[in-house]
Amino acid sequence: MIQLSNVSKVYPNGTEALKKVSLFIKDGEFVFIVGPSGAGKSTLLKLLIREEKASFGSIHVNGLDLMKIPKRKIPYLRRTMGIVFQDFRLIDKMNVFENVAFAMRVIGSPEGGVKKRVKYVLKLVGLEGTEKRKPHELSGGEQQRVSLARALVNRPQILICDEPTGNIDPERSYEIMKMLVAIHQRGTTVIVVTHEHELVKEFGGRVIRIAEGEVTHDTFLPTAYNPEPYVQTMTETDEEVSSEQESDLTEQKEATDETTQKNAFGQEDQKKKEADEE
Ligand SMILES: Nc1ncnc2c1ncn2[C@@H]1O[C@H](COP(=O)(O)OP(=O)(O)OP(=O)(O)O)[C@@H](O)[C@H]1O
Ligand SMILES: [Mg+2]
Repeated sequence: MIQLSNVSKVYPNGTEALKKVSLFIKDGEFVFIVGPSGAGKSTLLKLLIREEKASFGSIHVNGLDLMKIPKRKIPYLRRTMGIVFQDFRLIDKMNVFENVAFAMRVIGSPEGGVKKRVKYVLKLVGLEGTEKRKPHELSGGEQQRVSLARALVNRPQILICDEPTGNIDPERSYEIMKMLVAIHQRGTTVIVVTHEHELVKEFGGRVIRIAEGEVTHDTFLPTAYNPEPYVQTMTETDEEVSSEQESDLTEQKEATDETTQKNAFGQEDQKKKEADEE
């Protein structure tokens, strides 16, 4: 669950990137964020992952109050999210396998499960066989998919993508989008920032438009991929959930999805380490 109330962001140089934005995004929604360059889209995403802190207002993500969250707890917030950055942010020295595995290791996943899970996720994004290559030995579209694999590897509750199709040809863009829809259908909240109107028209769902730091439209565009507004079936609490409860939540979502591969995003029972930031 994502909730913003009257959120403003003023950068140190005085730029007011967001102005009194209020938004509620339910668990399991599929959301496009559109708007002109400089509108504040990336700023919004940065606030959600707490890369930037809001200047005013309140933000809650997955039960955590981002205005109050101490620094040491930020990794705990990010464990619940997968992020595909506009510029990939892959580590050049590491090969494809290591780039994705690193995301698991950094949150303390037991080494035993890493190999299997990374292999699985790379297959899911169509990158089987590229494990040993370095990012610079891949095409733009392949790098994008490594970035997506890395975002998915920890089974995020929320997947955030900043221009995930920005650097690739239309055919690949379409493939990436279809992948995001499939991930959404397995219960993940998916938020996609894009400039590409064609993709929005094709895939639809909730479309939020930001212009000059303000939300100017928030509508639902029905399509074959997203035929109707998402109805939340689970009850929400605004309280902080423990990591144990959190993984239960993930399992619960997956258990209800019988038509797709049951284990798609939860095949190993990833026992999270004790919430060490606690
Ligand atoms: N670190 C920063 N310091 C100062 N101003 C910033 C900073 N980051 C962004 N801005 C400004 O804030 C405004 C919103 O920027 P943001 O990156 O959120 O836009 P955007 O909607 O993502 O644009 P684009 O579509 O080009 O990626 C812009 O005016 C930008 O120049
Ligand atoms: Mg941006």
